[in-house]
Amino acid sequence: MADNQGNPTAKNYHLGVKPAASGWNVKGAEHCDWGMKNRLAAMFDRRSGNAVMLAFDHGYIMGPTAGLERLDLVVPPLVPHVNVLMATPGAIRACLPPTLDKPLCLRVNYDASVLFDDISAGGGIACDIRQAVRMNASCMAAQTFIGAPGEKNSLEVLARTVNAGQEHGIPTLGVVAVGKDMERSERFFLLATRLLAENGANLVKSYYCEGFERVAAACPVPIVIAGGKKLPEAEALAMCRRAIDEGARGVDMGRNIFQAGAPVAMCRAVGKVVHENCTAEEAFEFYQELLHHPE
Ligand code: 5RP
Repeated sequence: MADNQGNPTAKNYHLGVKPAASGWNVKGAEHCDWGMKNRLAAMFDRRSGNAVMLAFDHGYIMGPTAGLERLDLVVPPLVPHVNVLMATPGAIRACLPPTLDKPLCLRVNYDASVLFDDISAGGGIACDIRQAVRMNASCMAAQTFIGAPGEKNSLEVLARTVNAGQEHGIPTLGVVAVGKDMERSERFFLLATRLLAENGANLVKSYYCEGFERVAAACPVPIVIAGGKKLPEAEALAMCRRAIDEGARGVDMGRNIFQAGAPVAMCRAVGKVVHENCTAEEAFEFYQELLHHPE
């Protein structure tokens, strides 16, 4: 030690004061390692405990999706208004600078493209743990096709991702996919979300459905909802409201944001619901105000 003389004596031990509460509030992660918890904590807003994740990974199977034709123009203005960015490593490298200060959720699997009859055939790992670490990922997303031809294959990809993530303290987002002929019922989402959590996913991306409160209750880790196909903005906000009220811890939304009439306004309106407890009507009013009078 440089200075080992003349230091004041340690004496203020605050005897009788309880240890500081950790404030930990991510469901199912209480017993995870510090690094894993630190990454998870960074994904959820400190005050609301919820997350707005922006999903712009669609190109990995769909090519240039409507609204996402130019990643470099569409994504950067949305970044300040979200908690997490969910995309492929290629999209992140190509359209966002490394000065980015938001957690990344990297899609690590590949799947069949939309040119094939059935994307639920399953794929494999596109981005391994070394690449995820090099990209400073806060989370890795792996897609699963429960009840479809690609089920076994996609569960293996999930398991490999979870195991590698556990070694490096990087959480895994298990994604519940809904292929062409796949069921979209409460029964299906109850099964799929629970199955992903029990196979080690630290959080799950699923869809809102009737009976969602039971799906969220039975899933031992947080669920964030996908937006699905584009809805009128008021309806998309109402779906977010219902999902949060029924136990979702946020959204991982793509098309309903970047295909909206005004993507930045929609993204901020979603944040009003997810973080500020606004009603869907208040959030839609906020959206319209920004649409007609951009700041
Ligand atoms: C499908 C996905 C998508 O790639 C995407 O993230 C979905 O987002 P949205 O439905 O909100 O457009 O994860 O399983």
